[in-house]
Amino acid sequence: MASEQERELRRQFFSGVCSNLHARYAANDEGEPAAYIPELAQVDPDLFAIAAVTIDDHHVGVGDLSHQFTIQSISKLLLYGLALETHGREKVLARVGVAPTGDTFNSIVLDEHDNRAPNPMVNAGAIAITDLVEGDEVGDRVERVRSMYERYLGRLPEIDQDVWASERATGNRNRAIAYLMLNQGIISDRVEETLDLYFGQCSVLVTVDDLALIGATLANHGVHPRTGEQVVRPDVVRDMLTVALSCGMYDYAGEWAYSVGVPAKSGVGGGIVGVIPGVGGLAVFSPRLDEHGNSVRGLRTFEELSATFGMHLFDPDRPWRADARAAQASPPMK
Ligand code: DON
Repeated sequence: MASEQERELRRQFFSGVCSNLHARYAANDEGEPAAYIPELAQVDPDLFAIAAVTIDDHHVGVGDLSHQFTIQSISKLLLYGLALETHGREKVLARVGVAPTGDTFNSIVLDEHDNRAPNPMVNAGAIAITDLVEGDEVGDRVERVRSMYERYLGRLPEIDQDVWASERATGNRNRAIAYLMLNQGIISDRVEETLDLYFGQCSVLVTVDDLALIGATLANHGVHPRTGEQVVRPDVVRDMLTVALSCGMYDYAGEWAYSVGVPAKSGVGGGIVGVIPGVGGLAVFSPRLDEHGNSVRGLRTFEELSATFGMHLFDPDRPWRADARAAQASPPMK
């Protein structure tokens, strides 16, 4: 087992690598912030932050760490966990499958063979999952979702009211997807309420450190590194991470699995969270997006950190051994 001194050296080394990457990729101005949600286009495109949290709650971070941005599609991963815990696999799988689509995240496409949404990481699946959030009216359902976030973040998060309103006003493509699913009997008839909740959960404000903490909780079989609370059941985490690996990066998911090789989820707010099982969570925030809706600097940072530290789950030289958890280790040096 690594001594405290060794772990501190590893942390310093990892932190140094992150600082170098931050300095290097800050010069990369490829891509543009999401513009299809008008409020998101207002963001400073040059914001950039990298954060990591280990399963024993050590934090590393560089850049715009205190900037809050909307979580967007990263919410899909957490809502999927909530649905599985609340309703069980059978009921969830009857509405939403687990197959990657190879299509864009907002495609109007369903799994026609099984009459369900393709997977929970694209908008159709996420809206169907949101339909499963229980509550008598939308206010109760919003609070249920916020309290789920509270368990992950250690605080009740704010919702960006301007982004929420902007999505409500312009989200007609999501409306089309939702009404198609109503027509198919996949979701219930409280469609506008469910869409409102979907837009609201996407508009939850987080920092890059919050995302890394979410990643660390998932890396730790659902146990929160700080509070010690079992935020989500380990068997549910298994299912969440499986779809994150196969579908979390949309139509870039295959390339991501090949090059980075860790379960991850992105959002059009510019966040990406990755999970290194048994080790910790890694997150990047930078609002310039590529054509898939993924943060450009985020992709480059993850690619490089994965290569440098052998993070890929199937890397033959993977130094993130299974005993890392028992040893409560921080990211080791290669
Ligand atoms: O449904 C939408 O358009 C957004 N609220 C969420 C989309 C999103 O983050 C896709 N991510 N890359």
